[in-house]
Amino acid sequence: MSETKHPALPGVPLSGHAANEITRRDFLNEITLGALGIAGLGSVAVAGLGSVAVTYQFFSPNVLFEPPTTFRAGNPDLYPVHSVTFLQEQQVYIVRMPEGFYAVSAVCTHLGCVTQWKPDADMIACPCHGSKFKGDGTKIEGPAPRALPHFAISLTADGELLVDKLQNIKPAQVLKV
Ligand code: FES
Repeated sequence: MSETKHPALPGVPLSGHAANEITRRDFLNEITLGALGIAGLGSVAVAGLGSVAVTYQFFSPNVLFEPPTTFRAGNPDLYPVHSVTFLQEQQVYIVRMPEGFYAVSAVCTHLGCVTQWKPDADMIACPCHGSKFKGDGTKIEGPAPRALPHFAISLTADGELLVDKLQNIKPAQVLKV
């Protein structure tokens, strides 16, 4: 049978009981150190991932993606003369009169409600506070401070209507087709 030596006092044999106690303590120390090591590694990994995420966010472009402001409104033949067509997705009226086309904003100039074309009354009405406009956007009555703006309208190379909602134009500017 081999003798267990006291680690602090080399050469001094330990009794079986003392040897068991130290072994248990060593074992517990090992476990504790192992657990602390794993926890430490976990903390380092979490901190590393956090700094990678922050660095990625810092270097990625801070861009706000907005819907395009220019859109195609289709072939002019889609719109009969003397018509006002509401394009809901764009919140724009495509108006065709004998003199040509114009694009009118459907957003009320009072507080920004979306207006509605009323063909029976031949006018555009705002459901929020009662402003009324002619088909060409001219204000008739109500709290709206001004007429509905006109957007630039042109023809694409392949003959479709093209509206630019970023470009306001004078109501007198019509697209002759
Ligand atoms: S938002 Fe149109 S009248 Fe107020």
